[in-house]
Amino acid sequence: MLRTISTAADFYQNSFVSIDQLNPQTIQIILQRAKAIKASPKQWNNLAHNKLLYSLFFSQSTRTRVSTETAWIRLGGDVINVSGTEHISTSKGESWEHTLAMFAGYQPDAIAIRNSLEFLPHTAAEKFPNISWVNCGDGSNEHPTQAMLDVFTISELVPDLKNLTIAFVGDIKHGRTVKSLAKTLQQFGSTMYFLSPSSLHAQDELEQAGITYNYRDISELTEILPHVDIIYATRPQLERMSEADRHMYEHGVYQITPQLMQKTKARLMHPLPIDAHIFPEISAELDTHPQSVYFHQAANGLWVRMAIFSLLLNPIQNFA
Ligand code: CP
Repeated sequence: MLRTISTAADFYQNSFVSIDQLNPQTIQIILQRAKAIKASPKQWNNLAHNKLLYSLFFSQSTRTRVSTETAWIRLGGDVINVSGTEHISTSKGESWEHTLAMFAGYQPDAIAIRNSLEFLPHTAAEKFPNISWVNCGDGSNEHPTQAMLDVFTISELVPDLKNLTIAFVGDIKHGRTVKSLAKTLQQFGSTMYFLSPSSLHAQDELEQAGITYNYRDISELTEILPHVDIIYATRPQLERMSEADRHMYEHGVYQITPQLMQKTKARLMHPLPIDAHIFPEISAELDTHPQSVYFHQAANGLWVRMAIFSLLLNPIQNFA
């Protein structure tokens, strides 16, 4: 069983692998810690002194890996990185169980892990509870640190998560960032629309997770967007799609364009990356649009990941 994080004290030397561990109070603790660190980052630069992070990114990443490692180093700690699987012994047939046991055996203080296998961080946290495991994305399942940086960014833009209306747009079925953010916003009673081609809806998973939602076909995008505060676009996960869905995307099933943004005051978020080659889900002209916040959102990943690590190391630290 994962250890829940119900109070500030529960962060201490815990793992953070799922939104299911959190409640609205402990989510707010993360947001407040991130705000404090963003306002005054240098005050926090000794918290991880003499502490070691293993940064294990067995599948591709730009933002999560670099911001995770930067966060730990900015807290004063040391990092060892392993990227990809070609240089570790799983490529010689070693099991993930043995691989995780090896990393745990060298006793780092924390392990950040991304892998295409769902629930690997959960298994690791349960088997090796003396290490703080942080899930940086497990297959199509969850991406909880991304959800925290997303909700932190939203909290900078709208005053009240309860009165927030958000539209998740695109590939809902394979998008782990959508699932983690939806689980987070469910805890605050936000209104959520999910717009996708019908074959990329995630009805079963949303229902299993207890998400209250409004599903609309992607063809209703123009009608829905004027009524939301946040548009959360997602990358089509072509690598996980059926041939038919891939074909549909390659022929441009939808695109968020400057013309579409003229119809709404909503801010445009995206966890990134945007697929620039096949058929970009967001038009490149929107990169500099005043309603686009996705680069700001990504930059917030540093403060939020510093906040999460700092809470796992020391939940009561306060420099105010
Ligand atoms: N948002 C996100 O997870 O980006 P990376 O895959 O680049 O880490």
